[in-house]
Amino acid sequence: MKPTSTRVLTEPFRIKMVEPLKLTTEEYRQEKLQQAGYNPFLLSSQDVFIDLLTDSGTGAMSDRQWAAMMTADESYAGARSWQRLEEVVKKLTGMPYVLPTHQGRAAERILYSLLGGKNKVFISNTHFDTTRANIEFSGATAIDVPIDVNQTEGTDADFKGNINLPVLQQLIHTHKPENIAAIIMTVTNNSSGGQPVSMENVKAVRAICDQHHLLLVIDGCRIAENSYFVKHREAGFQDKTYEEIAKEMLRLADAFVMSAKKDGLVNIGGLLTLKDEELSRQCTNLLIISEGFTTYGGLSGRDLDAMAVGLQEVFDPDYLHYRIRSTAYLGERLHAKGVPVIWPIGGHAVYVDAKKLYAHIPVEEYPGQVLVCDLYTKGGIRSVEVGSVMFGKYDEIKKLVPAKNELVRLAIPRRVYTQSHIDYVLEVFDDILTMRQQTRGLKIIKEPPFLRHFTAQFEKINK
Ligand code: F0G
Repeated sequence: MKPTSTRVLTEPFRIKMVEPLKLTTEEYRQEKLQQAGYNPFLLSSQDVFIDLLTDSGTGAMSDRQWAAMMTADESYAGARSWQRLEEVVKKLTGMPYVLPTHQGRAAERILYSLLGGKNKVFISNTHFDTTRANIEFSGATAIDVPIDVNQTEGTDADFKGNINLPVLQQLIHTHKPENIAAIIMTVTNNSSGGQPVSMENVKAVRAICDQHHLLLVIDGCRIAENSYFVKHREAGFQDKTYEEIAKEMLRLADAFVMSAKKDGLVNIGGLLTLKDEELSRQCTNLLIISEGFTTYGGLSGRDLDAMAVGLQEVFDPDYLHYRIRSTAYLGERLHAKGVPVIWPIGGHAVYVDAKKLYAHIPVEEYPGQVLVCDLYTKGGIRSVEVGSVMFGKYDEIKKLVPAKNELVRLAIPRRVYTQSHIDYVLEVFDDILTMRQQTRGLKIIKEPPFLRHFTAQFEKINK
């Protein structure tokens, strides 16, 4: 990726309030991890030193956001806080109907329960887990058609988050346009390594949707991060602002769902925006019975105001440059040390290929979960497995059908950790590399019937 400046990366903010972190010993962490059944989701956050579990709702708000919260309006209906947010969102999306929700999946549930149902099909560059879960819960089918690329190699110019256009056309033909509920573009593509989606690709999807009268939804919880990649990688966008690029992309869609816990720079909040009046009426009915009245949607006035400010701050060029470069800083240095990572580095996270790193550990012994555990015991770093613990299934004889990849996601919270925290993470990886041959696998001893990565428990295999 071409940096916009050759200077050393520095955080474009200074720290006004601090939250102490507890430094613990390796022995202490070993005990805590064992008590948590080798599943860091079950750890207490006070025992975590650097928390890279998710970039969702974990960011730090600015002084401007906190100031806006102080002057928020907590009226049940027609609050000024809502009016401020609605104005910002209408300008950004160009859509006339804006519904606030408490987080992204609530917007998904409202929209997809109305569009979905038995025999309906959704097609996406890749559905995020909650998107898929909401679609399948409605009785519909969710099909992923990412482009066919080598995930760990490639040039800097790749838009590896794109949808596969020929396969999309084929699927529309096979399933028939009347059965396709919507095409969903996830921007950036979280489940495909946080990789960006090009404007050209979304424009092509728009044309296909027009041809078959299909609805195009953008899941744009990282739309500002995606705009950074478009400006610096796609021809013709160099002179546009990040906000102009986001606006251009969103104007291609019929609906927009957003978890504001990412690029809304808030700790809670979501949005659903629509072009169609009738669909928006139906969504509004569901919003009122499940989330709250149309001018707060399950949020307080404070949350609405913080989001209104966050959605503007996120397009600040200094912020976005810092954001994307600081994720790349970790990824590029890991790559240089010989740690296999998804390449090029995406927007919000670095994904380590644990199957390659621990080539001696078979997938049945969950190399991704092993790395997650090693990062915690060696450094107090919390990450998440995105592999066979999360996506693996069993066949009839209870043999594991592994996931496509065994990845570990190091998600970077926004404006929270400094470069020296990230340098610490890099040092911990030196230890991981030194001891990698001695590392042993894990077996599952307890698991729930679904979403097992949250609560499964493991035991070390000693051989
Ligand atoms: N869509 C995408 C692309 C997401 O990444 C997420 C959340 C959601 C929808 C759901 O939003 O959590 O506000 O209900 N991703 C988080 C993550 C949980 O860790 O990647 P939510």
